[in-house]
Amino acid sequence: MTAPLNLVTISGSLRRGSFNTALLDNIPDLAPSGLIFRRLEIRHLPVYDGDLEVDDMPPDAVRELQRQIRASDGIVIATPEYNHGMPGGLKNAIDWLSRGPAPHGLQGVPSAMLGASDGTIGTTRSQSHLRQTLAALNSPAMPQPQVLVARAQDKIDVDGKVTDESTRKFIRGWLVEVERWMRRFPRSERE
Ligand SMILES: Cc1cc2nc3c(=O)[nH]c(=O)nc-3n(C[C@H](O)[C@H](O)[C@H](O)COP(=O)(O)O)c2cc1C
Repeated sequence: MTAPLNLVTISGSLRRGSFNTALLDNIPDLAPSGLIFRRLEIRHLPVYDGDLEVDDMPPDAVRELQRQIRASDGIVIATPEYNHGMPGGLKNAIDWLSRGPAPHGLQGVPSAMLGASDGTIGTTRSQSHLRQTLAALNSPAMPQPQVLVARAQDKIDVDGKVTDESTRKFIRGWLVEVERWMRRFPRSERE
């Protein structure tokens, strides 16, 4: 039997009632049985400041996040769109992950992304921005299909459940592709 994949997830939104965090909360129910998810937090990270690095080593909170991501089989990031890009907090976390001794937190770690917005475009631009940054860090990001949940308020209820059947179906299919993508980059061959 094929071993399950342990994936970590990060939400780019910190607010209670976030549509993006809700997407992450829904994916375990929609995923094939070969995927196990664990949420990681980024809200405790300081704003990037090179003076917080001691002997080129980032703070312990960053090192721990790097360790958890490197110990996983891949990362799934849910990103809102803020002013046509990814939120500053998410970019800040990724900037920290790229620091310290090689390999950094995302080097060679396969990634996939999804996003929700209350507007009509559904995070297209923030996902492009996130892709560009992941490419800089040599994290292979799954190119297609893309989960762009527009008008999320019509598809996710107040309890955070994705209620829209076509969105649920799309995410189910996306998760099948996520498993296929992550298995292309086995952890044992990463570095
Ligand atoms: C500072 C800020 C900028 C935003 N800029 C955009 C934007 O450029 N495009 C967009 O579709 N939505 C934009 N929005 C709306 C977000 O998509 C919406 O608030 C969404 O619900 C945020 O994700 P969350 O529910 O996971 O917190 C912006 C929201 C904020 C707070």
